[in-house]
Amino acid sequence: MIAVINQKGGVGKTTTTLNLSHALAQSDKKVLVIDLDPQAHLSAGYGVLRQEQQGIADVLLGELEVKDVIEEVRENVFIIPAGSRLGELEHLTKGGAKRGFLLKEALKNKIRKFDFVLVDCPPSSGILGMNALLASEEVLVPVSGDFFALQGLSRLMSIFQHIEETLKRKTKKWVVLTRFHERRKLAKEVKGKILSYFPDCVFQTAIRETVALAESPGFGQTIFEYQPKCNGANDYMELAADVIDNRLLS
Ligand SMILES: Nc1ncnc2c1ncn2[C@@H]1O[C@H](COP(=O)(O)OP(=O)(O)OP(=O)(O)O)[C@@H](O)[C@H]1O
Ligand SMILES: [Mg+2]
Repeated sequence: MIAVINQKGGVGKTTTTLNLSHALAQSDKKVLVIDLDPQAHLSAGYGVLRQEQQGIADVLLGELEVKDVIEEVRENVFIIPAGSRLGELEHLTKGGAKRGFLLKEALKNKIRKFDFVLVDCPPSSGILGMNALLASEEVLVPVSGDFFALQGLSRLMSIFQHIEETLKRKTKKWVVLTRFHERRKLAKEVKGKILSYFPDCVFQTAIRETVALAESPGFGQTIFEYQPKCNGANDYMELAADVIDNRLLS
């Protein structure tokens, strides 16, 4: 299970979860995506957002089970939508330390049939993000190629360290460069810095800034449905190969 996480907003977490999951599915992998963001952009991107929707919110609140809320959205892709009540979870006060393990407990023995499980996290480091981290063996951090990209990364690293200490195990960390402008000097600088901060963690493929990637969720489509020949589609297909074959920059 992979938490797609970065507490910084707008770096490409949802775009990556949406299109990487569909790319993996097209490589014959069985994929589950979980929308853990009250904004529910992933559910919208896959075209399954509804009013008064049930989803992972109701599972975490102890009222439904995973099997009640899972939906098949594409061939080989299953989704657990956010659910209208997901925002309530960020304000959950009861449960003490157990509040962080609700997702892990809910998914126990229920996700074995999937080759990949991707969790789209909200842009915060509250209870929902904690639940994703405590349930995942791996994290994928999208980093956008702009001036503020590096801001907050050291805080994110200390959160990962805290999780590793709590669970007494290592978390596999991956980084993907997103919204990348190949010819921009700044993007190259960010790439160099990221590589020095995260040696042996950065995937080979950088996702280029592509207008169609921003447009497709508005139609409830992935990039492979909306514009399968654009740079963004090509990049996410290559990223899926990076994930499957562990192709990293060095
Ligand atoms: N490679 C790209 N090219 C062009 N636009 C992109 C690209 N990646 C993401 N975007 C756009 O940038 C915005 C932010 O992306 P996205 O929603 O994936 O980020 P996020 O990290 O999930 O944001 P949030 O923190 O709000 O959940 C969206 O409008 C999205 O369509
Ligand atoms: Mg998002």
